[in-house]
Amino acid sequence: MTRLRWIGLLAGLHLAACASEPLPDSLSDYAVSDSCVILNLDPIPPDDEVPHPGYKTVYACHDTPEIFFEDGQWVGTPYPDGTIIIKESCMDGGCVEVEGDFVFLVATAEKVGGAWEWHEYTRNFDYEELLEVPFPESACISCHEDVAAADYMFTVYEAR
Ligand code: HEC
Repeated sequence: MTRLRWIGLLAGLHLAACASEPLPDSLSDYAVSDSCVILNLDPIPPDDEVPHPGYKTVYACHDTPEIFFEDGQWVGTPYPDGTIIIKESCMDGGCVEVEGDFVFLVATAEKVGGAWEWHEYTRNFDYEELLEVPFPESACISCHEDVAAADYMFTVYEAR
Protein backbone atom coordinates (compact mmCIF):
# COMPACT_ATOMS: atom_id res chain seq x y z
CA MET A 1 0.00 0.00 0.00
CA THR A 2 2.76 2.39 0.97
CA ARG A 3 4.57 1.62 -2.25
CA LEU A 4 1.45 2.42 -4.30
CA ARG A 5 1.08 5.73 -2.56
CA TRP A 6 4.69 6.56 -3.40
CA ILE A 7 4.11 5.74 -7.04
CA GLY A 8 1.10 8.07 -7.08
CA LEU A 9 3.13 10.81 -5.46
CA LEU A 10 5.96 10.43 -7.94
CA ALA A 11 3.54 10.45 -10.87
CA GLY A 12 2.03 13.66 -9.50
CA LEU A 13 5.44 15.28 -9.17
CA HIS A 14 6.33 14.24 -12.68
CA LEU A 15 3.18 15.84 -14.07
CA ALA A 16 3.82 19.03 -12.13
CA ALA A 17 7.36 19.20 -13.49
CA CYS A 18 6.09 18.79 -17.03
CA ALA A 19 3.42 21.50 -16.90
CA SER A 20 4.93 23.95 -19.37
CA GLU A 21 4.74 27.69 -18.99
CA PRO A 22 3.68 29.66 -22.07
CA LEU A 23 5.93 32.37 -23.54
CA PRO A 24 5.24 35.42 -21.32
CA ASP A 25 2.87 37.96 -22.92
CA SER A 26 5.51 40.63 -22.44
CA LEU A 27 7.72 38.77 -24.93
CA SER A 28 5.19 37.55 -27.47
CA ASP A 29 5.02 40.83 -29.44
CA TYR A 30 8.74 41.56 -29.17
CA ALA A 31 9.45 41.49 -32.90
CA VAL A 32 7.22 44.48 -33.54
CA SER A 33 8.05 46.35 -30.35
CA ASP A 34 10.22 49.46 -30.17
CA SER A 35 12.19 47.83 -27.37
CA CYS A 36 14.11 45.47 -29.62
CA VAL A 37 17.05 45.88 -31.99
CA ILE A 38 17.65 43.14 -34.58
CA LEU A 39 21.26 41.97 -34.36
CA ASN A 40 21.71 39.84 -37.52
CA LEU A 41 20.73 41.30 -40.90
CA ASP A 42 19.97 37.96 -42.62
CA PRO A 43 18.45 34.87 -40.98
CA ILE A 44 21.12 32.58 -39.47
CA PRO A 45 20.71 29.25 -41.33
CA PRO A 46 20.57 25.81 -39.66
CA ASP A 47 23.95 24.26 -38.81
CA ASP A 48 24.51 20.60 -37.86
CA GLU A 49 26.81 21.65 -35.02
CA VAL A 50 24.32 24.05 -33.42
CA PRO A 51 21.35 22.67 -31.44
CA HIS A 52 19.08 25.59 -32.42
CA PRO A 53 17.20 24.50 -35.58
CA GLY A 54 15.60 26.69 -38.22
CA TYR A 55 16.38 30.10 -39.69
CA LYS A 56 17.10 32.44 -36.83
CA THR A 57 16.74 36.11 -36.00
CA VAL A 58 18.25 37.48 -32.80
CA TYR A 59 16.89 40.56 -30.99
CA ALA A 60 18.43 42.57 -28.16
CA CYS A 61 15.62 44.14 -26.12
CA HIS A 62 15.49 46.60 -23.24
CA ASP A 63 12.87 49.00 -21.85
CA THR A 64 15.23 51.77 -22.98
CA PRO A 65 16.97 50.30 -26.06
CA GLU A 66 18.89 53.58 -26.55
CA ILE A 67 21.11 52.16 -23.83
CA PHE A 68 22.70 49.88 -26.47
CA PHE A 69 24.06 52.88 -28.43
CA GLU A 70 26.47 55.69 -27.72
CA ASP A 71 26.62 58.54 -30.25
CA GLY A 72 24.78 56.29 -32.72
CA GLN A 73 27.36 53.51 -32.34
CA TRP A 74 26.56 50.05 -30.95
CA VAL A 75 28.11 49.75 -27.47
CA GLY A 76 28.23 45.95 -27.52
CA THR A 77 28.76 43.64 -24.57
CA PRO A 78 28.47 43.34 -21.65
CA TYR A 79 24.74 44.00 -21.82
CA PRO A 80 23.14 46.00 -18.98
CA ASP A 81 20.71 44.49 -16.48
CA GLY A 82 17.19 44.28 -17.87
CA THR A 83 18.41 43.18 -21.31
CA ILE A 84 16.46 40.33 -22.90
CA ILE A 85 18.09 38.55 -25.83
CA ILE A 86 15.46 36.77 -27.91
CA LYS A 87 16.17 34.31 -30.69
CA GLU A 88 13.28 33.24 -32.90
CA SER A 89 13.51 30.29 -35.28
CA CYS A 90 11.39 29.98 -38.40
CA MET A 91 10.98 26.78 -40.39
CA ASP A 92 11.59 27.46 -44.03
CA GLY A 93 14.06 30.23 -44.59
CA GLY A 94 12.82 33.09 -42.48
CA CYS A 95 9.51 34.48 -41.26
CA VAL A 96 9.86 37.66 -43.27
CA GLU A 97 11.37 36.01 -46.34
CA VAL A 98 8.95 33.09 -46.77
CA GLU A 99 5.18 33.59 -46.84
CA GLY A 100 3.36 31.32 -44.41
CA ASP A 101 6.52 30.61 -42.40
CA PHE A 102 6.08 30.97 -38.64
CA VAL A 103 8.09 31.08 -35.42
CA PHE A 104 8.27 27.55 -33.98
CA LEU A 105 10.99 28.11 -31.40
CA VAL A 106 11.92 31.03 -29.17
CA ALA A 107 15.02 31.02 -26.96
CA THR A 108 15.52 33.79 -24.42
CA ALA A 109 18.24 35.02 -22.10
CA GLU A 110 17.28 37.71 -19.61
CA LYS A 111 19.87 39.53 -17.54
CA VAL A 112 18.77 39.84 -13.92
CA GLY A 113 21.16 40.94 -11.18
CA GLY A 114 24.16 40.58 -13.51
CA ALA A 115 23.39 36.97 -14.51
CA TRP A 116 21.53 35.48 -17.48
CA GLU A 117 18.34 33.42 -17.04
CA TRP A 118 17.78 31.00 -19.95
CA HIS A 119 14.45 29.73 -21.36
CA GLU A 120 13.24 28.05 -24.53
CA TYR A 121 9.68 27.76 -25.91
CA THR A 122 8.34 25.74 -28.82
CA ARG A 123 5.25 24.74 -30.80
CA ASN A 124 4.46 22.58 -33.85
CA PHE A 125 1.79 24.70 -35.56
CA ASP A 126 1.27 28.43 -35.82
CA TYR A 127 -2.14 28.30 -34.13
CA GLU A 128 -0.60 26.73 -31.01
CA GLU A 129 0.82 28.56 -28.01
CA LEU A 130 4.61 28.61 -27.57
CA LEU A 131 5.29 26.47 -24.47
CA GLU A 132 8.45 26.18 -22.41
CA VAL A 133 10.78 23.27 -23.16
CA PRO A 134 11.89 21.52 -19.93
CA PHE A 135 15.59 21.88 -20.71
CA PRO A 136 18.01 22.58 -17.82
CA GLU A 137 19.57 26.04 -17.86
CA SER A 138 22.91 24.42 -17.02
CA ALA A 139 22.92 22.84 -20.49
CA CYS A 140 22.36 26.22 -22.16
CA ILE A 141 25.15 27.75 -20.09
CA SER A 142 27.62 24.91 -20.69
CA CYS A 143 27.62 25.78 -24.39
CA HIS A 144 27.15 29.55 -24.19
CA GLU A 145 30.08 29.86 -21.78
CA ASP A 146 32.32 29.23 -24.82
CA VAL A 147 31.64 32.90 -25.56
CA ALA A 148 31.74 34.14 -21.95
CA ALA A 149 34.06 36.93 -23.10
CA ALA A 150 31.22 38.22 -25.30
CA ASP A 151 28.77 38.14 -22.35
CA TYR A 152 27.72 34.55 -23.31
CA MET A 153 26.21 35.61 -26.65
CA PHE A 154 27.30 34.24 -30.03
CA THR A 155 25.40 36.66 -32.26
CA VAL A 156 26.88 40.14 -32.59
CA TYR A 157 25.30 43.35 -33.87
CA GLU A 158 25.82 43.74 -37.60
CA ALA A 159 26.39 47.38 -38.54
CA ARG A 160 23.85 48.81 -41.03
C1 HEC B 1 25.80 23.26 -27.97
C2 HEC B 1 25.70 24.70 -27.97
C3 HEC B 1 24.43 25.42 -27.55
C4 HEC B 1 23.49 25.07 -26.59
C5 HEC B 1 23.40 23.81 -25.75
C6 HEC B 1 22.54 26.17 -26.54
N1 HEC B 1 22.89 27.15 -27.43
FE1 HEC B 1 21.96 28.93 -27.67
N2 HEC B 1 23.17 29.36 -29.24
C7 HEC B 1 24.23 28.59 -29.69
C8 HEC B 1 24.81 29.21 -30.88
C9 HEC B 1 26.01 28.69 -31.67
C10 HEC B 1 24.06 30.37 -31.12
C11 HEC B 1 24.25 31.38 -32.28
C12 HEC B 1 23.07 31.38 -33.23
C13 HEC B 1 22.92 30.10 -34.00
O1 HEC B 1 23.83 29.73 -34.75
O2 HEC B 1 21.86 29.45 -33.82
C14 HEC B 1 23.06 30.45 -30.07
C15 HEC B 1 22.17 31.49 -29.92
C16 HEC B 1 21.35 31.68 -28.82
C17 HEC B 1 20.66 32.90 -28.50
C18 HEC B 1 20.80 34.22 -29.25
C19 HEC B 1 22.03 34.97 -28.71
C20 HEC B 1 23.34 34.32 -29.14
O3 HEC B 1 24.05 33.81 -28.26
O4 HEC B 1 23.62 34.30 -30.35
C21 HEC B 1 19.91 32.65 -27.40
C22 HEC B 1 19.00 33.63 -26.65
C23 HEC B 1 20.14 31.27 -27.02
N3 HEC B 1 21.04 30.72 -27.89
C24 HEC B 1 19.53 30.66 -25.94
C25 HEC B 1 19.77 29.33 -25.60
C26 HEC B 1 19.03 28.63 -24.58
C27 HEC B 1 17.88 29.21 -23.78
C28 HEC B 1 19.56 27.37 -24.51
C29 HEC B 1 19.13 26.24 -23.62
C30 HEC B 1 17.73 25.88 -23.68
C31 HEC B 1 20.65 27.29 -25.49
N4 HEC B 1 20.74 28.50 -26.12
C32 HEC B 1 21.44 26.19 -25.70
C33 HEC B 1 24.68 27.44 -29.09
C34 HEC B 1 24.03 26.74 -28.08
